[in-house]
Parts: sequence; C-alpha cells; structure tokens
Amino acid sequence: MKKFAVLGYGTVGSGVVELFYKNRSKIEEKAGSPMELGYILDLREFPDSPYAEKFTKTIDTILADDEVKVVAECMGGVEPAFTYLMQCLSHGISVATSNKELIAKKGAELLAEAKAHSCNCFFEASVGGAIPIIRPLHRCLAANEISEIYGILNGTTNYILNKMLTDGMTFEDALAKAQKHGYAEREPSADVDGHDACRKICILSSLAFGKHVYPESVYTKGIREITLEDAADADALDGAVKLIAFVKKLGDGRILPAVMPMFVPHENMISRVDGVFNCIEVCGDAIDRAYFCGRGAGKLPTASAVMADIIEEIKHHKTVFSQDWVDAGTQNFIAGIDELVCGMFIRFAEAQNAAACCEKLTGYLKAENLADFSEDCVSAVDHAALITCPMTKAQRDQLLAKLAEDGLNIAHWMPVMDA
Ligand code: HSE
Repeated sequence: MKKFAVLGYGTVGSGVVELFYKNRSKIEEKAGSPMELGYILDLREFPDSPYAEKFTKTIDTILADDEVKVVAECMGGVEPAFTYLMQCLSHGISVATSNKELIAKKGAELLAEAKAHSCNCFFEASVGGAIPIIRPLHRCLAANEISEIYGILNGTTNYILNKMLTDGMTFEDALAKAQKHGYAEREPSADVDGHDACRKICILSSLAFGKHVYPESVYTKGIREITLEDAADADALDGAVKLIAFVKKLGDGRILPAVMPMFVPHENMISRVDGVFNCIEVCGDAIDRAYFCGRGAGKLPTASAVMADIIEEIKHHKTVFSQDWVDAGTQNFIAGIDELVCGMFIRFAEAQNAAACCEKLTGYLKAENLADFSEDCVSAVDHAALITCPMTKAQRDQLLAKLAEDGLNIAHWMPVMDA
C-alpha cells in the first residue's frame, strides 16, 4: 500500500483530505496504484472527524512508517514546517507543499536535501493556487530564455480591488468577505501588504533564473493606499489597478523583481482577471508570451495542486523531478526598484481641470526633454488623471517636482505595466 500523510488540517490540508476521498478512484487510477491516507498531523483535537483515528501529533509516527511515500505540508509558516520537511526528505520521503513562505525562504535548502536523498520537493500549490505554473515553467517552457514574468499572484487583494470597483465596497468589508471565503492568509497583512505575492514572485524568479531570490531582496508595496477614486479613474482610462508581482531580466543579466499596485491597460488580458482569480504572463524568446489563469486561492483549488504533486510522486516514486535552484551566496544579481523604467498613472488631488493638467504636463515633458512624448501618451478624463509614456526614475522625479512647483498636487501615482 502506498500511503501519504497530511501535515496541518486547516483550509488546504482538510481540502486535500476531502478531495482524496471525493475522487479517490480517479486519483488512484491516475497514480497507477491503490493509495491510503496514512496520517494527519495536527496539534488540535478533531474528535468528531470521520478521520479521527488518523490524527497524530508527532512527525515521528509518520517517519517510522515505511509505507509513507509522500507528505503533503499544508501548515503554513516556516517552523515547524521546515524541520518536518527536512526530516521527511532525509528519510527519503518526498514532500508536496502549498507553503510559499517556506519555499521562498528555504527553497534552496529543501531542494538540495531532496536531491541528496533522491526524492522530490514539490510545490505546485505554492504559486497561483489551482493554476499549473511551476511544472509548465520548469518543464514545458524549459527551452526558452525567460525575459519577463508578470502576475496577479494574490487572490485576496484581487478580490478586494475588484469589489471596491464593482460594488463600491470599502476595503475593510471586502477583506472581511475574502477572509470568510477562506482566501486570506492567517495574517491578512501578508495579503494586503504584498508579502504573499512577494513570496510567490521569489519562487517564480528562482525557478526561471536558477538562483534563489529571497523576499528581503524584492521591493514590495501592497494595496493599502489604493482608493475608490484610483480604481474608477483607472477604469475611465481603459485600464485597471492590480497588485502586480513581476520579474524582468535586464540587459546586463541581472533581474528586477518587485511587487506593487500598477495601472494595467486593458490591452493586456491581466487587467480583466478579477475576483479571486490569478493570472501569470510568462514571456520567453521562443513562445513570445503565455498566460496561465485560474483560481489563485481557496480550499479545493489549492488542494487540487497539492493532490497532483502527491499523484506524481506515487506514480513515479524515486524518479527525481524536483527542479533545483541554488543559493548564489549573494543577491547582487538583483537590481533595485530605482532601475525600473515605467510610465506613470497620475491622479491629481483636487478637482482640477483635466485638460489644463494635461497641457501643463505636456509642456513640462517637452521643455525638459524628459522623455520622448507625444499627445497619444496622455489620456484624460473628467477626473484629473492621466498616463505618461515610460521614463527613468530620474525623469519621473524631475517631472513630479515640476508638477509640485506649479501647485498641481498629486493624490497618487503608480507605475504603468507594459502592455
Ligand atoms: N492568501 C492567498 C491569496 C492564498 O489570497 O492568494 C493563496 O496563496
């Protein structure tokens, strides 16, 4: 009998158990073998659970059972998950985790341990929930030189931004609703302040470029400053405000990863991905671009990705599929946010005349030779908001200073995502 175990019986862990019993015969058929859920590790008591006899409070029970081939880690957080998974790998037991914080912080160590013991550290569920992205990026797109990845990688914030625009809901009410649906992290600031998306872009960057990108090296800004006016003006300018996590390869070989709210023009389908859905755009020299969309959070969508990793391990036990990136020792292959060249979505503070703002801005850009500017680059609506063409940071700073000198108070500006 091939057994698997589940660590953590929260939203995702209980989803894995539910999905296994719901689709057991199909799952076993795909795995090519009878399977059994051997253990559920959780410190809490679940006396009324139909699986009450499977609960254990110690990892040693699982490590001692030779029939356990793979362990699904759905606990969240770095410890004790890291210690447990390192113990499993050192016993030759493969692991499948949905824990992005763990992979973003300890991925290189876990992958090295898996390699050393000829087993796998799978983490398909750690990015994009239900969306297949780890395997496609690692395997299906392996022949490409990846140049850029852009994504909506956090379902909670996408849900909040969408609810603000479509239902006029306050930020707090939308967050409460996302939490009720089980989308949000244990600590909602991880979603709202961009840390969850940061961990996910760290994982995709490490996978795409082969060196571990640590969260501390990634400029991260969340959605707390986004207002209903921003959302409405972006909509009027044919775009949407989205929390975008991205990584770009620069001309000198370094990479620039970041997370921030961006104006996404409607020409890019990412702007139309709403609610809890995530979308990831991967650009490569052979494929041009490919999009991966689906439910980015939630019990069964995330459990689907964990279960797929379990099936892969049961079917190909001891075949090493894990990608392995390395800890490069330094993070000097990562460029800072000041090197980002981007256009600006600018929203003026007072109800000013949009046409006059545009005219002034056009004048500044031309007079200061700030950027190659044409009328087409600026759009204006009833609200005083507009979009500029791409500029360097120095150019942006100069422009903002000029606007301030002239008494044009800016309520908010955010970068424009390349279409
Ligand atoms: N809190 C995360 C989100 C869950 O909202 O996307 C999935 O990682």
